[in-house]
Amino acid sequence: MNGQPGTLQRLRTAWDRLKQGERVLFFMVGVMLLFGAVFWLLAITHVTDVLRVRDIYEESPLANEGFKLVQDAGCRNCHSVLKIGEWGLAPSLDGEGTRHDYMWIRAYLEDPARQMQGKTLHDGRYASDFSEFSPPQKDRIATFLFAQKSMPGSANHPQPPQ
Ligand code: HEC
Repeated sequence: MNGQPGTLQRLRTAWDRLKQGERVLFFMVGVMLLFGAVFWLLAITHVTDVLRVRDIYEESPLANEGFKLVQDAGCRNCHSVLKIGEWGLAPSLDGEGTRHDYMWIRAYLEDPARQMQGKTLHDGRYASDFSEFSPPQKDRIATFLFAQKSMPGSANHPQPPQ
């Protein structure tokens, strides 16, 4: 031995000096890093498809105008739109275009009470009955909502995965 401790030796000494709790902490961080690395490898090699995007927005100029209206009107105070907004108060509007067709959404914006057989919270008290929007604005909002699609396997897809 030449008296100069090697890197491994120094690491050993450092580890020995640690308190029990510190060792447990380092061990747990190590386990998490390992788990993360394995998960990441599985994902990039497509062994698992957990990282696949399952809700998509089919963007178009008209739909973008609708998005602007939705943003300004504060729909996100109750709805999740493009993954942002409140959840639990109202159904997520992500994937709306897979759950309903354009005509359904447009009719809902025209007269929510009729579309829901009288049972709707879009009654002008709890939530707006959309009467503040002009017909062309409703067209744009409906275009935006219909452009929200969900892929099979998404929580916003109408059918559970096979
Ligand atoms: C105060 C809360 C609130 C706000 C703000 C709100 N909503 Fe809603 N919305 C609801 C609730 C609750 C429902 C559940 C269905 C119902 O009551 O008719 C709903 C349902 C909907 C639906 C039907 C969803 C489905 O698939 O059944 C659409 C479309 C919709 N809202 C659009 C909008 C738009 C566009 C805005 C913004 C202009 C908006 N909402 C703002 C509460 C809200």
